[in-house]
Amino acid sequence: MERPERPRLAWGLTGSGHYLRECLDLANELPDVDLFLSRAGEEVLHMYGHPLTGLREGFRIFRDNTASAAPVGLFYHGHYHTVVIAPATSNTVAKCVAGISDTLPSNIFAQAGKCRIPSIVFACDTAPQMETESPSDWVTVYPRPIDLENTRRLTGFHQVVVVETFDALRAALRTRLAAVEREFGAAAPARQRSGLAT
Ligand SMILES: Cc1cc2nc3c(=O)[nH]c(=O)nc-3n(C[C@H](O)[C@H](O)[C@H](O)COP(=O)(O)O)c2cc1C
Repeated sequence: MERPERPRLAWGLTGSGHYLRECLDLANELPDVDLFLSRAGEEVLHMYGHPLTGLREGFRIFRDNTASAAPVGLFYHGHYHTVVIAPATSNTVAKCVAGISDTLPSNIFAQAGKCRIPSIVFACDTAPQMETESPSDWVTVYPRPIDLENTRRLTGFHQVVVVETFDALRAALRTRLAAVEREFGAAAPARQRSGLAT
């Protein structure tokens, strides 16, 4: 498979409504982003009013419809500089921590580790009590100790940045994209330089 002139950003979307709209807006600010959806992610996108037809205007989209997670082959050929999983459900965080890769987001996380590609994970479950947005209103949820423990354990993974707030996600992306710009700067489109402007 041909190596691309400039690698892209792989963004995993899971079945979480937590800051979903904000995450999509942020991804939209950036150039060269491909979305990797879990099956739950695809359903939840519809529930929150983001049909795939609209998203295809701004992104290349990979759906979770192969048993082997076929698109991860791209990771072996230098197609991606960074993996972002945002927002990340407690389910996906648990799989990432346990080394399970049976969905597209958990697969791109695993492949990033195996290919030494940095990852940023925006975990949903970060406090014993949280306010989160359902499709119709704001609700209170109480992440369990196992959920909080999984988030904590993920912070110990090599080349993985775990962020707990949307602002921290923006900051982590800014830092990472500055490093990418230094590495691939000559070929960087102008839009990348304006994305995430403070
Ligand atoms: C409207 C809606 C919102 C949800 N939001 C969350 C969430 O914020 N955090 C979470 O851990 N699970 C949430 N879920 C449940 C996940 O979608 C479910 O656990 C799913 O199996 C996760 O699969 P995935 O991790 O492969 O995407 C939500 C489900 C629905 C229907």
